[in-house]
This record gives sequence, structure tokens and C-alpha cells, in this order.
Amino acid sequence: AKDPVRVLVTGAAGQIGYALVPMIARGIMLGADQPVILHMLDIPPAAEALNGVKMELVDAAFPLLKGVVATTDAVEACTGVNVAVMVGGFPRKEGMERKDVMSKNVSIYKSQASALEKHAAANCKVLVVANPANTNALILKEFAPSIPEKNITCLTRLDHNRALGQISEKLGVQVSEVKNVIIWGNHSSTQYPDVTHATVGDKSVPELIKDDEWLKSGFISTVQQRGAAIIKARKLSSALSAASSACDHIRDWVCGTPEGTWVSMGVYSDGSYNVPAGLIYSFPVTCRNGEWTIVQGLSIDEFSRKKLDLTAEELTEEKALAYSCLS
Ligand code: NAI
Repeated sequence: AKDPVRVLVTGAAGQIGYALVPMIARGIMLGADQPVILHMLDIPPAAEALNGVKMELVDAAFPLLKGVVATTDAVEACTGVNVAVMVGGFPRKEGMERKDVMSKNVSIYKSQASALEKHAAANCKVLVVANPANTNALILKEFAPSIPEKNITCLTRLDHNRALGQISEKLGVQVSEVKNVIIWGNHSSTQYPDVTHATVGDKSVPELIKDDEWLKSGFISTVQQRGAAIIKARKLSSALSAASSACDHIRDWVCGTPEGTWVSMGVYSDGSYNVPAGLIYSFPVTCRNGEWTIVQGLSIDEFSRKKLDLTAEELTEEKALAYSCLS
């Protein structure tokens, strides 16, 4: 039998946490033959709720679940973890300035970076979900210099999956038939959902859809605004789809992407596609042997170029704002 993998979920008493931890315990993230030990972190006001989640995990009697650590101590939570899913953060409340929210999250991600750097297992893979996801991941990278930058990523797979869903509905085909959409840039409303290279079977999505107007406006804004549409409908933000996409992200990273398929991940830019180096930016990637590689050589037309640059500009500004919170 395989040794258990230790998976940290921060913010585990929250909405996404509640949807995510049973998925992990059922093997959806790491495979149906991979035992896991869950480490759950939250803050003291949520300690009682966190303990309730732990009770439910016991009650669910998951065969793969070999242990549960539920704690408000970041060091205890981070010790020995092989995978860290960072869902905890400070939400924007009414009347708060962007800078105030950024400042709270910068300080959370700075201190959790140190706890991970000192106490996580070597080669721990990190996925930041909490918003502003790209910039939180960048701060985590800055303050955990001994964690390889290749191991620090943020979630744009939900946006990627949303794009697949929209194309599948539009064409009336199974979502599993749609491949190779791309989310470029920030997990925010400036992200660029790009179908230029997407396919269904051996056909190109733009050729099948034959509606350039929709692809260049309605489709893009629907994906960009989907989070807000979910809040409007549910009075709560997306949780099951976020949790499921976080599992997809880690599973593909660890187990590899299928031949001929790429996915979107927020990763540390090396300057590919003339995206400024040193941002955490969402790119198309393939994964093999536990490592992602940015897909190279895709053609970028003028329309796409503007969109790639616009979301890069927003990330550059966010980075500057985050740094201004540090001084
Ligand atoms: P939530 O408010 O229900 O849960 C957040 C949890 O984090 C709470 O239990 C809170 O006590 C905890 N927390 C706060 N500070 C913490 C800290 N310093 N350490 C550990 N835990 C801490 O929020 P929800 O709906 O679960 O969303 C979580 C985050 O995920 C939000 O930032 C949200 O904006 C983001 N999100 C990102 C998505 C993506 O695609 N990247 C999609 C959906 C949500």
C-alpha cells in the first residue's frame, strides 16, 4: 500500500473548505488508491466550526482518510505537508478599500509562507485559491525563497472549466469533448478566456461556433463575470465548482495532463508570450512527472495580444500595491 500523502487545506472551516475536504478524502484529488492525512487550518473564531468539520470527516468513515489534524496553529498545520491548498484569506467587506484588503492578505500570506518554508515536506506543491489569488501566490513565493518557484501556483482552473462549460453548452456537445481553451492572466475580471486554439474532436472551436461576435464579447464576459453571477443566484460565492477545480488542478499537476491536452494554471512567469517575468500569471500548461511546462509557440493574434497585456498590467499594479503594503 502507498504511504499517506499529507494535504493541507487552510480556511478549512469556510465554504470551499467544506466542499473540498470530502473530495480529498474520497480520492478525487490524488487518486482512489492514495491514502491521505488531512491538515486543516483556520483562525480561532472558526475553531469550533473547524472541529465540527473534523467530526463529520470521522463520521463519513472515508477508507482513504488515515488521519485529520484540525488546528489554528499554522506551524502544526504546515508540518510535513506534501500538498498545500491555501483557501484561507481575508474577504473584501463592504466599504473596504482595495489596499486594506490587500494589506490583510499580504500579511497572512507572508506569515504562512514562512510556516510552509520551515515545516512543509521538501518539494511541497502549493496551490493558492484565496483572492487575490495570483498576488497572494506571489507574496507566498517571495517569503518562502527555499520553496522552488515551480512549486507555487494559483487557481485559474475554475475559470478554465467555466470556459469549457460555456463552449459545451453553446455547441450542444459533451464538456469532455471540448479541449484546450486557455485562461490567460489574472483570476479577476481582466482574465482573458481564449478559444483560438480550442478544439472539439479534430475541429476548431471558432470554426464550429461561427459566431465571432459572441466569442469576442458575450463568451468572454460570461466567463469573466461568472463568479458574480453565482453570488447573485446563490447569495454565496462558488464553492463546489471551486473545490472541484482545485482537485483538477492538483490531480493534473501530480498525475499529468492527457496527451494532446493542456490546462490553465497560474504560474511564475518566465517571460513566455512576452508576459512580464516575475508575475504569477495564468498560462496554458502541460504536466508530466509532477512538473508543469508552459505550452510554447501558440500564435497570438492582435485581439489576443491586447487582452494578454491588459491583464498583465493589472497584475503589475497589484504587485506594486502588495509591495507597498509591505513597507
Ligand atoms: P469563506 O469566507 O467561506 O472561508 C474562508 C475561511 O478562511 C474562513 O473559514 C476564515 O475563517 C478562514 N481564514 C481567514 N483568515 C485565515 C487565516 N489567516 N488562516 C487560515 N484561515 C483563515 O470563503 P470561501 O467562499 O471558502 O472562499 C475562500 C477564498 O477563495 C476567498 O478568498 C475567495 O475569494 C476565493 N475564491 C477563489 C476562487 C478561484 O478560482 N481562485 C474561486 C472562488 C473563491
